[in-house]
Amino acid sequence: MQLTINTAGTLKSKPDETNLGFGTVFTDHMFNMDYSVEKGWHNPRIDPYAAIPMDPSTMMLHYGQGVFEGLKAYRTEASGVQLFRPLDNFNRLNRSSRLLCIPEHDAAFALDALKQLLTLEKDWVPSQPGTSLYIRPTIVAMDAFLGVRASFTYRFFIILSPVGAYYPEGFNPVKIMVSEDHVRAVRGGVGEAKTPGNYAASLLAGDKAHEEGYTQVLWLDGVEQKYIEEVGSMNIFFVIDGEIVTPMLSGSILPGITRNSVIQLARSWGLNVSERKISIDEVLETQASGKLSEIFGSGTAAVVSPVGELKYGDRIVTIGDGNVGPVAQRLFDAIQDIQYGRVEDPLGWVETVC
Ligand code: COI
Repeated sequence: MQLTINTAGTLKSKPDETNLGFGTVFTDHMFNMDYSVEKGWHNPRIDPYAAIPMDPSTMMLHYGQGVFEGLKAYRTEASGVQLFRPLDNFNRLNRSSRLLCIPEHDAAFALDALKQLLTLEKDWVPSQPGTSLYIRPTIVAMDAFLGVRASFTYRFFIILSPVGAYYPEGFNPVKIMVSEDHVRAVRGGVGEAKTPGNYAASLLAGDKAHEEGYTQVLWLDGVEQKYIEEVGSMNIFFVIDGEIVTPMLSGSILPGITRNSVIQLARSWGLNVSERKISIDEVLETQASGKLSEIFGSGTAAVVSPVGELKYGDRIVTIGDGNVGPVAQRLFDAIQDIQYGRVEDPLGWVETVC
């Protein structure tokens, strides 16, 4: 397949890099590619950033048959642009697609197209500390049809957005509340896919947590409501007796690329990491006995997000001394140093774009 490049006639002015929020500003161009049963994935192109015309009956709008990814491009000190484990994102997009009955794409081709898009948009990659260019690959069902079945046509697009911190707290500890009324996903469902419905399903519990002054929801499993799954839209880690513990991937947990990076890095430092079931009771017991020193979330958007306080029913407990713990700090610094090219890339995760 040959990528066509259609450049924009006029370019937008760039935003103030010292005041970037998250996901509000978009670059001049986007990647587009279409799918039909007859042609498969076809017509890959870079176009000016534009709305996607949709019939009101477009299946994505009704039944949520869509998948997406999130990754970032980083500006290095030498003014280059680089990506962090990007092929993992396109491979995960294919895994999500399989669960949503969406045809798979050629991940290597998509990565190459992204690199060409980034090369065209390189001036949009911000250089202020803590900023990056967020990349959102997305595939949506495009048939204009109201029956429930998998669509026969799809649009794959990639948009780019210069961003600052995702959470207003930045790297400061957040307060999290265990959701007892709602679950995020169930085993056998689509919890391990990055699909819009999982995020829609998290909103009501998130609103309830915010009303009580908490930033994030701590999700328990959908069967027994006993075992911990995720925090907000991130994976979660605990430091218990010096060992790092994270819920094992059970089918209802998103297989985070940052989660995997945390595990690999910590093991490379000689730390013990265990992927296993961990119950909310174990968390509270180890907190009470002083063995639980840290909790932190991991995700592309925030990288590592320390937890300072946890609420479960009537119990409110402080994690460690309520401040950022040493393991979270070390992981945050190490991952960011690799992403921004400030250190050697010990595990071969970085790809130079331009
Ligand atoms: C992440 O933490 O990377 C996320 O998944 C958040 C994203 C949906 C904005």
